[in-house]
Amino acid sequence: MSLLPHKHLLGLADYSEADITMILDTAERMREILDRPVPKVPTLRGVTVVNLFFEPSTRTRVSFELAEKRLSADTLNFSASGSSLSKGETLLDTAMNIEAMKIDVVVMRHKSPGSPHFLSHHLNSIIVNAGDGCHEHPTQALLDMMTLRQKFGTLKGLRICLVGDISHSRVALSNIIGLRTMGAHVTLCGPATLIPRSVECFGVDITHNLDEAIRNCDALNILRIQMERQQAGLFPSLREYQKYFGLTRERLAKASAPLTILHPGPMNRGVEITSDVADSEHSVILQQVTNGVAVRMAVLYLLAGAQIPNPETKA
Ligand code: CP
Repeated sequence: MSLLPHKHLLGLADYSEADITMILDTAERMREILDRPVPKVPTLRGVTVVNLFFEPSTRTRVSFELAEKRLSADTLNFSASGSSLSKGETLLDTAMNIEAMKIDVVVMRHKSPGSPHFLSHHLNSIIVNAGDGCHEHPTQALLDMMTLRQKFGTLKGLRICLVGDISHSRVALSNIIGLRTMGAHVTLCGPATLIPRSVECFGVDITHNLDEAIRNCDALNILRIQMERQQAGLFPSLREYQKYFGLTRERLAKASAPLTILHPGPMNRGVEITSDVADSEHSVILQQVTNGVAVRMAVLYLLAGAQIPNPETKA
């Protein structure tokens, strides 16, 4: 049984302030484990987790696997390439066959929005969404919030600006939902073609002027420009994007106080962010990555930890 009032983590929309606080507080305790000489605990011994990745990933995939190993779970990695998907097997058949091997948790990344929700209706396993198309990436938003909370002490009243391609970003949607739930002010900044007006219903501000955004926020979360969408003509050229929305040291100098810089990765250095900003003392980008392991340990523990058989009660 889950220690949260949810069986799955499909997105942050149905997670309350108390739920998110519980995950962030647990992640801080998990973060301490990572600094121990032997960074491993037996918490998920007996639990089997499969990482079902149908899309490329570096940070999410490696940090989930590491989180599972740090908690002593048995882990399996599945990647679409080389699987029977190429022989015409459906997503559901693939997932049901893997579950039949006695799996407890499925961590899933897929290009189709809603695919983890779909599997949650057909499998008995706990499902954790590791990114579903342009929809949600809840553990990324949780690790971003953990990093901001470490820096500022609280998320309430914090002014966060998300910069870039909001339309196609699962990181943006999960951050908007999570940050608003936690009482932060959220501003979205980018070309009009990359910000859907419908996001206003989340209670966010919208600007198309990065200099204005910089003057009115405490932290900037810079989103990746999705090069694969560049052909769609959503902005004239990478050069023009860089000119109006690229974060440079010169632009940041206009802020009244130093701003904290986040980026979920992978970065396009020289496009949405220059190297001197990405590597500056105000960048928390690598701290985000470390926190990613702790947040994923917390999520797995809270959702699956209570499943662990108690050795005392075993025959
Ligand atoms: N931030 C993020 O999801 O990175 P990966 O695509 O490398 O997992």
